[in-house]
Amino acid sequence: MIDLHSHILAGIDDGAKSLSESIAMAQQSLESGVSYMVCTPHIHQGVFNNKLETIKPVFDVLVAEMKKISLPLKLAYSCEVRLCPEVLQWVTDIQLPYLGQWDRKALLLLELPHSHVPPGAENLIKWLLKNRIQPVIPHPERNRDIIADYRKAEFLKKLGCLFQITAGAFTGRFSDKVAATAHRLLKDGYIDYIASDMHSLNRRPNDMGEAFKVIEKTEGKGTAMKLTTDVPALITKNTRWFSE
Ligand SMILES: [Fe+2]
Repeated sequence: MIDLHSHILAGIDDGAKSLSESIAMAQQSLESGVSYMVCTPHIHQGVFNNKLETIKPVFDVLVAEMKKISLPLKLAYSCEVRLCPEVLQWVTDIQLPYLGQWDRKALLLLELPHSHVPPGAENLIKWLLKNRIQPVIPHPERNRDIIADYRKAEFLKKLGCLFQITAGAFTGRFSDKVAATAHRLLKDGYIDYIASDMHSLNRRPNDMGEAFKVIEKTEGKGTAMKLTTDVPALITKNTRWFSE
């Protein structure tokens, strides 16, 4: 499987706290059936002020350590950007490491606040699409506005967003409401792919293996393969993987 969302890089957001924790998380991801992983640290203005210059050195340290101990997880790096007005400037200045490609557009992991879908989201999403940036919304199933009113998800889909659901939403890691929203999105064919969004070894580990089984059981093996492997492979077909 190919995991397009993880907080495995140490010390730059609320994910791994040390290099040894990063290694343990990589090991657990391999055991979960993940062979390729994109590291996507938060870029959250005023909270996690990451940029390429803070991400790449930490990524290089992890790759070097993985090579040293021959851990066969293939890695690439990108980011998870919290929606804010500065995104326009970052995109214009080409400051963001994109997640991959989609329909000849650069793919951007664009995080909404967990509480709601902000009024400015519509204009920003339209502007991004016009500028050949494809937004993918991580974990819409955990957004409280969407849980309360499913039409908000339909609205974002109609605007042209892709949806990435968190693997743990299918394995009982979150609330029943989150699971119900994830299953409804799955039934409606609104999910483009799933990813771990792993943050730690214990509280938020890699649930891709378990989620695959749940999706296989409800929608069949073809859908499970599509959401965990085929679509992520298409997105990353031009990605350079490290530690190969
Ligand atoms: Fe995340």
